[in-house]
Amino acid sequence: MIATQNMEINKVAESKISSIDFHNIQFGKVYSDHMFTVDFMGGEWKNPRIDPYEMMKISPASPALHYGISIFEGLKAYKHENGDIVMFRPDKNLERLNISAERMCMPLLPEDLYFDGLNTLLETDKSWVPGVDGTSLYIRPFVFSNDDYIGIRPSQDFKFMIITCPVGAYYAKPVKVKIENHFVRAVEGGSGFCKTGCNYGPAIYPAKLAQDQGYDQLIWTDGKEHKYIEESGTMNIMFVIDGKLVTPATGDTILNGITRDSVLTLARDWGMEVEERKVEVAEVIDAIRDGKLTEAFGAGTAATIAQISNIAYNDEDFELPAVETREFSNKVLKALDDIKLGKAEDKFGWLHRI
Ligand code: COI
Repeated sequence: MIATQNMEINKVAESKISSIDFHNIQFGKVYSDHMFTVDFMGGEWKNPRIDPYEMMKISPASPALHYGISIFEGLKAYKHENGDIVMFRPDKNLERLNISAERMCMPLLPEDLYFDGLNTLLETDKSWVPGVDGTSLYIRPFVFSNDDYIGIRPSQDFKFMIITCPVGAYYAKPVKVKIENHFVRAVEGGSGFCKTGCNYGPAIYPAKLAQDQGYDQLIWTDGKEHKYIEESGTMNIMFVIDGKLVTPATGDTILNGITRDSVLTLARDWGMEVEERKVEVAEVIDAIRDGKLTEAFGAGTAATIAQISNIAYNDEDFELPAVETREFSNKVLKALDDIKLGKAEDKFGWLHRI
């Protein structure tokens, strides 16, 4: 067991925080002063430490660079009015990190080490958790192969690191999405359920083609028939159809989103009918045409609740009902914000105080 008192803490000589405008922050552009690192060597996690956020050395032969032997997570910390700093459902990120680790032949991360790293880094950089409306501190834990070996095999040495960045909205306005019916993000038996770099890099080209046509993101469909809706790559996808909350069931090909789970939990708690199942593209398009689809949105840590304004399919663009009319997604966004900011009861025990 590794305890915080054994952690080496090397602080920056001078914080760069005074140069940051917390009212004007772009997602992922600015990082806090420090980072957490622990090495996996000789079959053991060793040498946990906090260092200044800085460039690092990695072997040019590292399989992280060549074969994508890397996994990551995303969670957020919030500042309450009384100054408390809380993280939203960090236990779920550890659970998912270890699911990804197993799929990528990486060692599992012990709970005490993960929380020691998170708590100590956040304690060190607590002034970086912005208190401005609509902002938070995005936390990026990640593990990558640190082998100096270019052959293909399960890696032996790894680093687990955590970096953080103050963020505003990932999508500044409602998003226009395009249903993809040629490219594929994931297939049955693949790694689509993991947060590994391997799922994100290849998705950028098809998303760029959609962006060139004026869309913000894709909605991926299944790899066999392009018949069923899957997820969006940056977020899970949800619809309100006939008053029911409908979302694709997770499995091999869809990330088991923590915001997704939080939304479904709240919806069920409010007595709303929830359907987690296969969702056909044709059903969604028919529901739009018939006026039965009243809401469509993405759910993700970075994206939070991202309203979808337009859905394109086979060269047809469908404009969805105005965002102001969307009762459920507006309510769930507010409810989640209120819980995260300590303005509503944390009935499900989702907040973790540092
Ligand atoms: C997250 O929501 O935390 C993600 O990892 C998505 C990524 C597109 C920023």
